Amino acid sequence: MIAQAGAGRATAGGWAHAFGKVILLGEHAVVYGVPAIAVGISRGAMARVTPSKEGPSVLRLEGLPIDLRADDDERDLARSFRAVLEASSVRAPCLVEARADLPPGGGLGCSAALGVAIARALDPKADAQLVAERAMGWERVFHGNPSGIDTAVSAQGGCLFFERGRGFERVLLPAIGPAVGAEGSGAASAGKLLLCVGHTGTVSSTKSMVEGLARLRERRGPIVEKSFDAIRALVRNARLAIEAGDVKALGQLMDLNQMLLSGLFLSTQEIERLCGRAREVGALGAKLTGAGGGGCVVALVEDENVAERVLRSWKDDGFDGFLAETPGQPATRDETLARASARESTEPSELERSP
Ligand code: PMV
Repeated sequence: MIAQAGAGRATAGGWAHAFGKVILLGEHAVVYGVPAIAVGISRGAMARVTPSKEGPSVLRLEGLPIDLRADDDERDLARSFRAVLEASSVRAPCLVEARADLPPGGGLGCSAALGVAIARALDPKADAQLVAERAMGWERVFHGNPSGIDTAVSAQGGCLFFERGRGFERVLLPAIGPAVGAEGSGAASAGKLLLCVGHTGTVSSTKSMVEGLARLRERRGPIVEKSFDAIRALVRNARLAIEAGDVKALGQLMDLNQMLLSGLFLSTQEIERLCGRAREVGALGAKLTGAGGGGCVVALVEDENVAERVLRSWKDDGFDGFLAETPGQPATRDETLARASARESTEPSELERSP
């Protein structure tokens, strides 16, 4: 499990952190300019940089048997790595170590989180927006046509209302459920959503799912556009529901989004099974999250008892799941100070950057 940096920036020891993400509503349609809402989760990626005496720069990714050289043209990962180095204007050779605590191909933004963690480790002084932009080159190698929502949420954390080409607006999460350690007290814990994430056990390629929908859109343009219009309305209403703290309405909107995603052939039997089980045991809503075609589902629940029931029902059916933590709300003064001291501990002063 990855150590969690409160502000999603950097941890002691020079490791930079990036959030994973859960898309609450609007995946796929967001590629075509429809807004989407996503939340950063604590599970994410980490990276750290050590200057090397000689080049080329090397990426050491946990779980990979070999180190990747930035001048290797044969491998996607190496080309992605080079794209972040170039975007960050890093000329001096370095070793970048990176690891992720997210299932690859699971719809939780694993590749974006790695790109963001690496971009942040290369330049800890860069702000979240710049880090997200620099990580886009990495994403393009894998995804072809990424909307940018993954890198934005991974770099920023919190809940974002995102529109391609227009950036994002923060959405304040509601205060819901009993406070941690205060069961039965009725006290509310501020600013979070209780989200159970369940894994279908199969992976999917975001690139091929996005390309599949693009082909469907070519063949069945008007029908797909109608779905996108409906998703746009759901996303706008979901934003209002979150801001009003109406988690029941949010759950219903997520269910409707799932129906539309199924109609676009993005769901699978396992996804439907996980969503169905979650609803049966009391989830307010459930849907696929990310690219679909496998990967993960997200179920919104009202309290931790229901969360436990959802996770147990998935486990009984042989599916893994976890309760996501959703930190990274807008910075408080304390958080800003924590970030400043974390940055000091990670600054790669020896790395040479182009002017
Ligand atoms: O599956 P993920 O975590 O890569 O999320 C993909 C989200 C999409 O909307 C399907 C694609 C995109 O670029 O926004």
